[in-house]
Amino acid sequence: MKIVPCPSSPLLAKRIADITGFEIADVTYRRFPDGEIYVRVEGCDECAVIGSVNSNDDLVTLILTLDALENPTVVVPYMGYARQDKAFNAGEAVSIRAIARILEEKAEKVVTVNIHSEDAASHFKKLRNLDAMQTIGKHFMESDVIMISPDRGSVGRVKVAAETANCEWDYLEKTRIDATTVEISPKNLDVEGKDVVIVDDIISTGGTVVEASKRLYELGAKTVSAVCVHAVLADFAAIKLFKAGIRDIISTDTIECAFSRISVAHLIASEIA
Ligand code: R5P
Repeated sequence: MKIVPCPSSPLLAKRIADITGFEIADVTYRRFPDGEIYVRVEGCDECAVIGSVNSNDDLVTLILTLDALENPTVVVPYMGYARQDKAFNAGEAVSIRAIARILEEKAEKVVTVNIHSEDAASHFKKLRNLDAMQTIGKHFMESDVIMISPDRGSVGRVKVAAETANCEWDYLEKTRIDATTVEISPKNLDVEGKDVVIVDDIISTGGTVVEASKRLYELGAKTVSAVCVHAVLADFAAIKLFKAGIRDIISTDTIECAFSRISVAHLIASEIA
């Protein structure tokens, strides 16, 4: 088996290669003068392509890389386009369905990490959806923190991370006070004077974390940090988060960026090895 790194995931691919002992394939990426992408992979019979999809270029590069190979395993650590997992309005494309078809036409197996939803996963036939929450929990094993999910829907995730870290956890619950007022508060725990970590799968625009942190600071939290699997950080979200008083942003390396301080390499390596 060889590892074929896409330009979106070079470090994660190297980490996976180091863990598994698999060689990194001889791959060339170039751009034609008009901007089109060129891909060549040499001497690769059995391989795993590693490439997150966080932009249209990432997607095209991944599709071209798969086209150069026979029956590869494709690892898409961050599966973009997964939020459009149904037609919310008549006539809309179901983006993740289209992507699932393309990937599965070429790949023998598709591996991802914390895909946006079960609906998104349901469009694949050969998907392994890995969960990075234990990996995130391990990062906090020596820390005295409270983990908070920004909503009830993500309770399952925060519970796994907190149980691994051996720390307390809770979720923010919305209570309707009257027709115009909704109050958000932790369901069970008092956060006053505590170091709180908001745990989410994705930080995209940062709106969810900003709202949650505002409330946690109002309730007396000493510090509020944010940890996520996928740091999409669209639209200058990191600046927005720091301006809102977020002490630290920590993410995994499904999207490689300055905040990727937790690696999912072991998780993926055990799946493909
Ligand atoms: C919601 O389903 C997800 O778990 C995240 O809370 C959400 O995607 C975060 O988005 P944003 O950063 O744009 O608020």
